[in-house]
Amino acid sequence: MIKAIISAVTGYVPEEVLSNQDLERIMDTSNEWITTRTGIKERRIMPSDKAVTYIGTRIVQDLLKKSNTNPEEIDMVICATCSGDFIMPDSANSICYQSGLTEAFGFDLNAACSGFLFALHTASQFIRSGTYQKVIVIGAEKMSAYMNYEDRTTSILFGDGGGGVILEASTDSIYGIVDAVLKGDGSGYRYLNIRGGGSLHPLTEESFAAKEHYLYQDGKRIFKRAIRGMYEAIDEVMKRNQLENDDVDWIVPHQANDRILSSVAEHLNYPYEKVMNNIAKFGNTSAGTIPLCLWEYEDQLKKGDGLMLTAFGGGFTWGALFLRWAY
Ligand code: COA
Repeated sequence: MIKAIISAVTGYVPEEVLSNQDLERIMDTSNEWITTRTGIKERRIMPSDKAVTYIGTRIVQDLLKKSNTNPEEIDMVICATCSGDFIMPDSANSICYQSGLTEAFGFDLNAACSGFLFALHTASQFIRSGTYQKVIVIGAEKMSAYMNYEDRTTSILFGDGGGGVILEASTDSIYGIVDAVLKGDGSGYRYLNIRGGGSLHPLTEESFAAKEHYLYQDGKRIFKRAIRGMYEAIDEVMKRNQLENDDVDWIVPHQANDRILSSVAEHLNYPYEKVMNNIAKFGNTSAGTIPLCLWEYEDQLKKGDGLMLTAFGGGFTWGALFLRWAY
């Protein structure tokens, strides 16, 4: 049986740091409030002339170099993002072009903060079916483009950056993606969205004045749903595959809020120190958080480790995916 294994991972964040202290200077907030309520200390911000295509291209170039892969070997690129350079065309095609992936096609996948999880599962199906051999899956965002820095409840959470993996075919039965559960609830659109600029609310003077081009969220409602969504999805994957907590060496959660992460661990009775966490440095980079975590923890991972990825995001979308690390 063919399985999809992760054979390389990388991440990219821009250099500019926006710290809690910087935010204190532009809005009515404090480092103390942000740190205790979210765990975030700083986030990264892209320059105005660069966006998701730039992040994705850097990621592809690094993945090829790291894994000694020729650009022609890549069959497909999926870029999970909700902040692509343009509404149309997608960023994945530009990324293929800019990184010289002459044999690949690409497409963007928008499942907001669950994007990387959805893209990874989608890519793994193309590999399991034998259709493609090597696929690059990216999660990349420029969330700062949609932040209203007058809204202290939301803008403090998000940052820019992302990561990616090479997913490839393997006939080894032990390693690779084992199973995933993906979920959606479209009624959640009203609690987390960017309305302005879409075809229902095209950019007009009125929509601009109403600040519809910024990300809106009902933080409290999402907080509760995110915790439940993540632990229920993990629980479902675990039960379906007869997994115990000991079989999961790491939980790799979307980084939305430190309190969400600890609460998910608590509900599962899972040790918090085995939950990957880099929220203090990068904040919420939406589809970027999971690959950024894998990249940062790569040195601590061992061949055969069981990783439970989980995310919750706009849509609502959520899910969990279990894999065995392959190197
Ligand atoms: N600095 C200082 N005070 C702030 C603040 C800030 N940045 N943001 C909000 N506050 C204030 C509120 O105005 C409120 O004041 P009040 O009691 O006088 O009305 C108080 O802090 C508590 O606000 P509340 O909204 O109840 O805080 P919270 O503990 O729910 O935390 C979030 C707010 C947004 C951090 C939290 O709800 C959250 O993380 N939600 C999930 C968001 C998310 O993950 N979104 C992405 C989806 S993947």
